[in-house]
Parts: sequence; structure tokens; C-alpha cells
Amino acid sequence: MMPSREVRILLAALLAAGLAVAAGCGAGSPPEVAAGPEGTPEQVLVAGRAVYADRCASCHDGDGSGTSIGPRLNSGRLSQAYPDLADAASVVSEGRERMPGFGGVLTAGEIRAVLRYIAEVL
Ligand code: HEC
Repeated sequence: MMPSREVRILLAALLAAGLAVAAGCGAGSPPEVAAGPEGTPEQVLVAGRAVYADRCASCHDGDGSGTSIGPRLNSGRLSQAYPDLADAASVVSEGRERMPGFGGVLTAGEIRAVLRYIAEVL
């Protein structure tokens, strides 16, 4: 016997709610990278977004506006504090105070990519 219409609607609603929770996870989803002059987004920035979503958004928020744990990084804040992004890369690699170091889990290329994503997209 097929499940009744009500049961199917309930299951669909539960699935949608589950997906919303999985996607949300306390931080909004980081914004997508816009297409460049070539008509496609730059791959380094797309890779940087993935690192940001996985490793940074939990403390700096999905849009980089900061949380009660990590400070704001968006709206030019990162480039103001670090005109040379290589200086920010050493903070990310080594960590500082309550910011964990990522030198053991991210490659130098991934750190550069995530910093470019923050500086150029957030
Ligand atoms: C567990 C929480 C946490 C995570 C995860 C985290 N950060 Fe942080 N971040 C912090 C905190 C806390 C600070 C402030 C450190 C301090 O007090 O000096 C900080 C500071 C920074 C700074 C320096 C900001 C400034 O104004 O000097 C940068 C850059 C930064 N984080 C980037 C990142 C990146 C990139 C990631 C992901 C790879 C990341 N953070 C992941 C908590 C976190």
C-alpha cells in the first residue's frame, strides 16, 4: 500500500527541515564566487570558498561578519589589517590566541586561496 498523502507530505517536510539544519550549522552559507570576465568563476576563489565553509565559517560566520568567537573579516577588514595577505597567512598557519593554527591541515596554497576568497568576495 502507498503511504497516504498526509504521510508523504510529512516526510517531505521532515526532509526539508533536515536539509535546512545541515546547510545552516550555525553559520549562513558563504556567498558564491561571481563569474569573472571569462564567464566562469576563478577556480582559486571557488576552492577558497570551500575551505572557508569547512574551516572558518564556524567562528567568523558564513559572510565573514564575525561571531562571538572570531572577529569580522569581511568588507575590506582583512585587507585593511593585512595589506600583504602573506602576513595573514602566517596567522592562519600558526594560529593566535583562540584562533587555531591550520598549518597542519591546510596547504600553503589552500591558505592563500581562502584568504583571497575572504579579501575579494566577502
Ligand atoms: C575556533 C574558532 C576559529 C576558527 C575555526 C577560525 N578562526 Fe580565525 N580567528 C579566531 C579568533 C578567536 C581570532 C582572534 C585571534 C586573536 O585574538 O588574536 C581569529 C583571527 C583571525 C584572523 C586575524 C584577524 C585580525 O584582524 O588580525 C584571520 C586572518 C583569521 N582569523 C582567519 C581565519 C581563517 C582563514 C580561518 C579558516 C581557515 C579561521 N580564521 C578559522 C577564531 C577562529
